[in-house]
Amino acid sequence: MYTYENKIWWKRFFFIAALLIGAFSLWYTDSLVKVLASEEDKKIKLWANATRLLIKGEGDINFLLDIAKDNTTIPIILIDDKGNINATKNLDSTHVSDTAYLMEQLEIMKEQHEPIKILYDETNNRFNYLYYKNSFILSQLKSYPIIQLTLIAFFALLSYFTLSASRRAEQNQVWVGMSKETAHQLGTPISSLKEWINLLRETEKENQEELLVELDNDVRRLELITERFSKIGSDPVLKPENLDLVIENSLLYLNARTSSKVDLSVSILKPGNWANINIPLFDWVIENLCKNAIDAMEGKGKIVVQLNHDEKHVYIDITDNGKGIPKSKFKTVFKPGFTTKKRGWGLGLSLVKRIVESYHNGTIYVRHSELGKGTTFRIVLQVE
Ligand SMILES: Nc1ncnc2c1ncn2[C@@H]1O[C@H](COP(=O)(O)OP(=O)(O)OP(=O)(O)O)[C@@H](O)[C@H]1O
Ligand SMILES: [Mg+2]
Repeated sequence: MYTYENKIWWKRFFFIAALLIGAFSLWYTDSLVKVLASEEDKKIKLWANATRLLIKGEGDINFLLDIAKDNTTIPIILIDDKGNINATKNLDSTHVSDTAYLMEQLEIMKEQHEPIKILYDETNNRFNYLYYKNSFILSQLKSYPIIQLTLIAFFALLSYFTLSASRRAEQNQVWVGMSKETAHQLGTPISSLKEWINLLRETEKENQEELLVELDNDVRRLELITERFSKIGSDPVLKPENLDLVIENSLLYLNARTSSKVDLSVSILKPGNWANINIPLFDWVIENLCKNAIDAMEGKGKIVVQLNHDEKHVYIDITDNGKGIPKSKFKTVFKPGFTTKKRGWGLGLSLVKRIVESYHNGTIYVRHSELGKGTTFRIVLQVE
């Protein structure tokens, strides 16, 4: 089954794999850079030596000229001991007559490498200085992996966000579509059931009243479920309601269906908690939160729904004394698919969050939780 935990592991796996690929490609180009740099170093030393011999007029002149010509990639500036530029090589040919350009190049060369001293006149101890910088290929190779990885990371992030936005839109469509379809499918058997009940009521008058009341209750419950699904599938109408009453009714309903070992109560800190809500959907929220609380306490314990408000907000705190939620999971519990239960779908809280945030413009979060002691979920709505 594709669960939230699986998703987290896949995300970690891809993240680590991407880091490893990035690190490997950096390491690999770095080793290429090192090889190329040492080749260039050897080449420039050979060139310096050939230049020295040429200036001194020693050795086979043709051979030395060949070596001197051989360097077609490494930019060079040769300076005498008075600071005059004697020769340049492999610099931008359109600018070599421009002194400012040459000085700028010289600065770059000074930053990159120590100059090579060429002793050409031993008796007068006269030197030339050979300044050089990395060839175009070497400097490209040095910056290439960084540019490449930055671009790849940028596109990966962009596609991740685009994909998750489109996936969210798709999820929305599925939520809405499935809910509408469920409501629609339930409609027909419910109206037919109602007709059957009417028929029974007319024909079997005696001894059947108890059974008919129960049937009526079940049909009403089915209608409520259908209403919830149809509300989730369309824009629900919100009305100003007194939450004190709504929650009291909701808990009354739940109390009748929960074990007597669970104590459900309302505590109204400041009466008159009015907000714009849709009752069937809001009941669903309270029902889901209380069901989770009951599961967390393994059958026995206390649930308190506390209501309070200030000038702008209504606060609904649902507190249980169950097993608690670790701090690291305060946000995760709302993700679809996250569950710690054998038979859970991990959908309850994501539905709750959806109803509170998308349909009621409110917020819901874990306000407080302590392992082994209990949990408080808080819903905040705007005051009507
Ligand atoms: N009051 C609570 N106390 C402790 N843990 C909670 C509480 N409410 C939720 N949880 C944790 O959050 C998880 C997700 O809850 P959610 O309602 O989304 O799914 P579920 O209850 O596991 O399954 P479903 O509601 O789909 O049947 C739960 O499995 C549980 O671990
Ligand atoms: Mg649940």
